[in-house]
Amino acid sequence: MATSEINSKFIFISTDFVFDGRFAPYTEESLPNPESVYAISKLEGERAALSRNENSVVCRPAVIYSWVPTGQTSSSSSGKPLNFGAWLVSQLQARKEVRIVTDQVTSPTLADDLAQAILKLAESTKAKGVFHTAGATSISRYDFSVKVSEKFGFDTNLVRPIDSSQLKQVAKRPLNSSLISNRIKNETGYEMMSIEKALDIFASQASMEVELNRN
Ligand SMILES: NC(=O)c1ccc[n+]([C@@H]2O[C@H](COP(=O)([O-])OP(=O)(O)OC[C@H]3O[C@@H](n4cnc5c(N)ncnc54)[C@H](OP(=O)(O)O)[C@@H]3O)[C@@H](O)[C@H]2O)c1
Repeated sequence: MATSEINSKFIFISTDFVFDGRFAPYTEESLPNPESVYAISKLEGERAALSRNENSVVCRPAVIYSWVPTGQTSSSSSGKPLNFGAWLVSQLQARKEVRIVTDQVTSPTLADDLAQAILKLAESTKAKGVFHTAGATSISRYDFSVKVSEKFGFDTNLVRPIDSSQLKQVAKRPLNSSLISNRIKNETGYEMMSIEKALDIFASQASMEVELNRN
């Protein structure tokens, strides 16, 4: 691997989906058991990175969300125009009802929080191996959506609870893939954000855009 030849660090972004969801919350010591093609490929990526460069760092975030400024939405190669949080805001803002699962629990991660965590790990000379880099709060997709709705002042009745069987998702999802992200704090001093702090930042980014448009 080119990075090991130049004695440099390789950082691989993985996922909470490497776990099957049966034994949450998970630490870096927990045994992965991926159950979808996506998750299997991410675990293979982790192993390839770690085996080819001993200084590799694997970051595992979950449900990454952030504000996407209006006019800057565009599909990535995976076909997603928006992340979950920004999509949710766009729907609620348009007063559309959203059906959100109550039985999938994760540790949603603000992109800014993840970016700072990655920088800390990149800067650290000691940090290597697997790090959970997910939001500090474990919460269902439904409860997360209600909190977002409240934070932005939308009608929370627009968020309708459903369970995974009603969603008919093709790929299997872990029902509880909550992550404990203590290792990064212990080794670099960086503490992943609580949902309250992250949603404050998320909402303030959105309101900044409203302010800019007003001026
Ligand atoms: N989204 C989540 O909730 C979540 C949760 C846990 C982990 N993750 C992990 O976080 C990472 C980002 O996820 P995401 O949801 O933001 O994915 P995404 O929306 O599909 O974005 C992937 C990005 O990677 C770029 N890309 C894809 N193939 C590339 C290549 N061969 N060379 C250079 N760039 C390439 C894409 O470029 P284009 O825009 O040009 O297509 C796009 O900007 C992934 O590794 C994912 O497994 C995501």
